[in-house]
This record gives sequence, C-alpha cells and structure tokens, in this order.
Amino acid sequence: MMDGKNLQIRLKNRPDGPPSIGDFEVFEADIPDAGEGEVLCRTLYLSLDPYMRGQISGRHISGTILPGDMMRGETISEVVTSHHADFKAGDRVAHHGGWQGWSVAKADELVPVDRRIMPPSLALGMLGMPGLTAYAGMIYLAELKKGDNLVVSAASGAVGSMVGQIAGIMGCRVVGIAGADEKCRWLREEAGFADCINYKTQDLAAALKESCPDGVDVYFDNVGGDMLDIVMGQLALGARVVLCGLMAQYNTDVIPPGPNPATIIKARATVRGLVVYDFFDKKQEFLDRVIPWVDQGLISYREDVTGGLENAPAAFVRLMSGKNFGKTIIRV
Ligand SMILES: NC(=O)c1ccc[n+]([C@@H]2O[C@H](COP(=O)([O-])OP(=O)(O)OC[C@H]3O[C@@H](n4cnc5c(N)ncnc54)[C@H](OP(=O)(O)O)[C@@H]3O)[C@@H](O)[C@H]2O)c1
Repeated sequence: MMDGKNLQIRLKNRPDGPPSIGDFEVFEADIPDAGEGEVLCRTLYLSLDPYMRGQISGRHISGTILPGDMMRGETISEVVTSHHADFKAGDRVAHHGGWQGWSVAKADELVPVDRRIMPPSLALGMLGMPGLTAYAGMIYLAELKKGDNLVVSAASGAVGSMVGQIAGIMGCRVVGIAGADEKCRWLREEAGFADCINYKTQDLAAALKESCPDGVDVYFDNVGGDMLDIVMGQLALGARVVLCGLMAQYNTDVIPPGPNPATIIKARATVRGLVVYDFFDKKQEFLDRVIPWVDQGLISYREDVTGGLENAPAAFVRLMSGKNFGKTIIRV
C-alpha cells in the first residue's frame, strides 16, 4: 500500500434546496492498491457538473448518491501503478474517479487523454463531455441554417458557451441568456455572441423581442422552467428547440410548470431531447473538428479553477448558485 492518505469528499446530508458546504464531509481513506488488471491513478483534475445535484436528489439517469457515499465525478488522472499492458506510469487518463485524490480503475474504464488537448483539464470541459454535448446539439439535432437566430441559456457555462460559438462558426446569429453583466460582456466581447440578455436585471421577454424581432429559430435550453416558457413564446415558424438541461429544477423538489405544448404546435417546431451518452461514438469526430477551431483561436473558453480537493464542496456550492464563471474544475 502507498504511504499517505486518500482525501475523499462524501455526501453528508441530502440538501433541501441549494446545497451548502455542510452537506459534504471530508474523509481520509487509505490509498487503494491496484489488483490484477487494474491501474492506480492520482487525480489531477476533477470535473464538477450540475448533474451531480440531480444524482443527490435521485433524479438523474446516471444513478443516485446517498448520504455517506463518495461523490462521483469525471477526473483527469495520472497513472501511478499499472497492472495492465495498455497503461504505464505517467500516462494521462480520463475516467470516473470521483471526488478523491486517488482511485483504482479497471483498464477498460480508462480513456487516454488525446495529446492535442492542452491543458488536460480541457478534456473535462470544452473538449470533454460538456463540449460534446454542445457539438451534438448543434451538429446533429438543431438542423442549423446560416443566418438562424440561435438563443442559448446558461450561455457562459461549459455547454452554453460552446453551443453559441459552434453555432457562430456555422453561420448563426447567437444570443445568450446569462445571469450576470460580467458573463454577458464576456460572451459579447470574447466569445463573439451578437447579443446577451441578463435575465436577472432585464425583462427577458421584452429584451428577446428586441434582439430577435423575427423570432427565435433555434433555442438550446439548459434551464427549463419559466425561461423555457418565455423563449418558447417567441419561436419562429419552423423553429427547433434542443432541450438539454434543467438548472431551474435541480435545486427544488417542486417542479416548475412546464411550457405550453400549444406553442410548439403553432410554430411547427421540433423539440428534441439531448443525452450526450448517445453521441459518445462521435467523440473522435468532435475532437478532430473542434481542436483545429481552438488552435485557430476561433473559440474562447473560461475555466473556473479551484485549488485543493478539500475546496470541492465550496466550488460545487458556487456552481449550483450561479457564481461559477466557466467550466468548474478542481486542481487536485
Ligand atoms: N443533456 C445532456 O446530456 C447534458 C450534458 C451536459 C450538461 N447538461 C446540462 O447542461 C446545463 C449546463 O451545464 P454546464 O456544465 O455548462 O453548467 P454551467 O453553465 O457551467 O453552470 C450552471 C449555470 O446555470 C445557470 N443557471 C440558470 N438558472 C439557474 C438556476 N435556477 N440555478 C442555478 N444556476 C442557474 C447559472 O448561470 P447564469 O448566471 O447564467 O444563470 C450557472 O452558472 C446543465 O443543466 C446540465 O445539467 C446536459
């Protein structure tokens, strides 16, 4: 067994409403040993994502986290000891290592990190699961046409910022919805969005009408609730809506009233649900297409990096209260 301890973050209580730091506890376990065919990994980066709140509520398709369980999550790790021919010490791998400093994985659970991805933390954000989500929504579901007015909510986040920028590269006019002036400024000035509405300080319906007077051709929804209802009220004829996330309901047991399906029928719109798992076989295509865009400086990106695994609960609390700005990453 290795010397030292394996810092783990476990769920202490199931929160009622937004999570607080006291809902998590730090635990010191032994560093695990890798068995036959297994690999011991040291965590370099941990991804924090909104779906984790759904796991805590028991409402996410990937499973439930109960009080006492270690928090789950995707990690970028360095191989320390390998008992499998496919991996050697020093390799960089992505896997679901969880909120801990060390993990043991079977070789088939590890994915080598594409060498073109630098820094490697991008493999958790714009060039990882959130980026693939955006890419899948834009390339496979939204049926983008040049000149489309595309609106995206939670626009400054890992998914939203990629949605808007890929749509921009594909010739759309992009309008973001975000909850802070600083986020809107970044989207307009750095990420090339044509417009951005701060839904906390502006009347969303009125601002949307002004920004997209001919209606919204594509809406990529990361939020649900009232925001979905308001944007759906302004769909253009033949609009496409990609339903991706439910930020408005992750923190509550009371589900907000849904959109009126009559608006979908009236606009002859197509609404499609997006689950990134269905597109994992597009991962290589996504990287081959998007990495050159990154290299050419066509894509801006923000990371919200916190140092130290022990600070993961505080960073998760910030993420779930909208105080993160960009992809939330823990540098372990
Ligand atoms: N369908 C799929 O396969 C799939 C895959 C990946 C992610 N997702 C979903 O995509 C969405 C965005 O994920 P992300 O990783 O890019 O997160 P993120 O945008 O980096 O962070 C979440 C953001 O949501 C916004 N938000 C809007 N309404 C909120 C509310 N009521 N409470 C708290 N925050 C609120 C906040 O920004 P503002 O300040 O702008 O409000 C916050 O910063 C999430 O809903 C996630 O679950 C879905």
